[in-house]
Amino acid sequence: MTAPTAVLIDCDTGIDDSLALFYAVASADAEIVAVTCCTGNVEADQVAANTLAILELAGRTDIEVAVGRKVPLVRPVEVTPETHGPQGLGYATLPPPHRPLSERHAADVIVAHARSRPGELTLVTLGPMTNLAVALEREPELPNLLRRLVFMGGAFRVPGNTTPTTEWNIHCDPEAAKIVVDAFASAPVLPLGLGLDVTEKAKVLPDHVVRLARRAGSRPDDSIALSAGEHPLVATRSVAGNPIVRCIADSLRFYMEFHARYDGFYGAFIHDPLALAAALDPSLVTTQAVHVDVDTAHGPADGQTIADWRHLTGKAANVEVAVDADAEEFLRRFIERVGGLAERRSPGLADTHPDVAL
Ligand code: BDR
Ligand code: CA
Repeated sequence: MTAPTAVLIDCDTGIDDSLALFYAVASADAEIVAVTCCTGNVEADQVAANTLAILELAGRTDIEVAVGRKVPLVRPVEVTPETHGPQGLGYATLPPPHRPLSERHAADVIVAHARSRPGELTLVTLGPMTNLAVALEREPELPNLLRRLVFMGGAFRVPGNTTPTTEWNIHCDPEAAKIVVDAFASAPVLPLGLGLDVTEKAKVLPDHVVRLARRAGSRPDDSIALSAGEHPLVATRSVAGNPIVRCIADSLRFYMEFHARYDGFYGAFIHDPLALAAALDPSLVTTQAVHVDVDTAHGPADGQTIADWRHLTGKAANVEVAVDADAEEFLRRFIERVGGLAERRSPGLADTHPDVAL
């Protein structure tokens, strides 16, 4: 068996970030070296609390969690309670974490791990790239020290989800994103960028949550709550017996209501777990190397990730942009892995689960 991929996750937890954390913990092919937190979906301190609580639920209180710069490089803080709920995890409420945050700054954690294992570490950013931009200032050799950068961010051939041209993670801190894509042009392996082009293929529906609950052996599972009424899930708290399933169902219900309002379907795009899954197994996506610039001009295209598909600028490629994804296989793995984690974390509930065709 090949060695697990050493990953450091920088995130703004966030509903789909929390699912990415569950996916990482659930994956035998991942070694999580640390998790760092930035402001994005909610403010950094809340992100840190959410991250600690999710890792505790997942049984990984040994992983260092550090917070970084709490404001974007030059822009004011913007958060999105309408998308992720006032505390970032939708309708899910978790007990306050039992352990403190790391005393180290997120940027120092990134730099220290990269230096200690040159060429080994995959850095996965799931939020605005503020911490990575600060880390680059402290260690300009970072692109050469990492094995690879994988980021969720951008809208390369598709419209934005925050402004007509711009995706949320880039929108929050476009200056940081520009510093990062410029700096990583010299990386031995180009960064893998997953924008909305592919992450909006990772559509989770209520039925997927039922399958996950059944895979977890949850008694009861969530099929009643998820199938009741004209709009499944609406005004219903999870009835699942398994605490990880409950957390996922209650957070996703909020996300699904948001997508029903803004995207026309009762389900949710789970951007960040797809990015994490692709960091562990890049064969889940197909890519095209292209030069990417980030617009920081404060105009109508502010924060746009401009990809030079026709090589008009003559500039060398600096990002492997994901142009397609095997969303079906990703969702199968998501259910199998995260459902399996939930089952392992709740042994008393696991002995009666039925066989589920995945
Ligand atoms: C990205 O923005 C956030 O709301 C999500 O967590 C994801 O990282 C999608 O645009
Ligand atoms: Ca995120």
